[in-house]
Amino acid sequence: MIQIIKTGGTVAGDVKLMELLIREIADSGVPAVLVHGGGKAVTEISRRLGITSVFREGVRLTAPEEMAVVDMVLAGLTNTELVRAAYRAGVPAVGLTGADSGLFTGALMFPGEGGRTARVSSINLAPIAALHARGFLPIVATVGVGEDGEAVNINADEAAQALAQAVAREQQVELSFIADTPGVLDDQGQVIGSIPVREVEALIRSGVVRDGMAAKIRSCASAVTAGVGRIVIGTYRETGDVGRLREGTAGTVVFPGGDNDQGTH
Ligand SMILES: Nc1ncnc2c1ncn2[C@@H]1O[C@H](COP(=O)(O)OP(=O)(O)O)[C@@H](O)[C@H]1O
Ligand SMILES: [Mg+2]
Repeated sequence: MIQIIKTGGTVAGDVKLMELLIREIADSGVPAVLVHGGGKAVTEISRRLGITSVFREGVRLTAPEEMAVVDMVLAGLTNTELVRAAYRAGVPAVGLTGADSGLFTGALMFPGEGGRTARVSSINLAPIAALHARGFLPIVATVGVGEDGEAVNINADEAAQALAQAVAREQQVELSFIADTPGVLDDQGQVIGSIPVREVEALIRSGVVRDGMAAKIRSCASAVTAGVGRIVIGTYRETGDVGRLREGTAGTVVFPGGDNDQGTH
């Protein structure tokens, strides 16, 4: 069993919280991979450098000059800050990117426009397995290598989903998305306890789930359909929150939703 934890940029920026989160996942005894985003920081640093971030349906295009910023911010700053948080938490961690041994190879999504954003086209689990064999926590920035051998930017939700699917072919895997909301919220602002895959598109169409959360529940739906055992979306505020997400007493579970399936809480 492996647990994959994806943290969004907003929560990942709170280093004290990240120390607690990393300590908790290490204490759980289940080998983990921490995957992080950081898009908001990329947009901010780009802006300061005079680069305007361009999006296509919520997805960053990543012009070549912005790709350098993505590398600098995600692989440089955000990843290193998380590895330092792990060090302070007493957890042996190694920071890596999707370029390390081709962990994430990507196919360009907007080749005609020169954008460097890619979808995961293949995964090499060897670096993760090597680190787990030695008891290290891999902390992964989701920049990778394109099929042309150059840098690519991969959405962190998609990268975590693809990683979970690759692991699921070999062993049990749990996937947790830690965002800045306590789960997927309904039109009253209440956490939806569980969502069957067949309702995901309707929630997006109705406008209840938008923006980053729409992308996230689509990633969840793909992962569930591909056999990832347990998927939950929630937030992290204190020690025990990952446990609560994993056991289903907090957050939103996305589940297969066939006739015999039932959501947890
Ligand atoms: N129904 C919803 N429930 C929760 N969040 C939603 C919903 N619809 C839109 N959102 C937005 O999605 C955001 C989470 O996505 P995102 O910003 O991409 O987070 P992350 O950095 O974790 O990927 C929330 O902060 C919220 O603004
Ligand atoms: Mg997001």
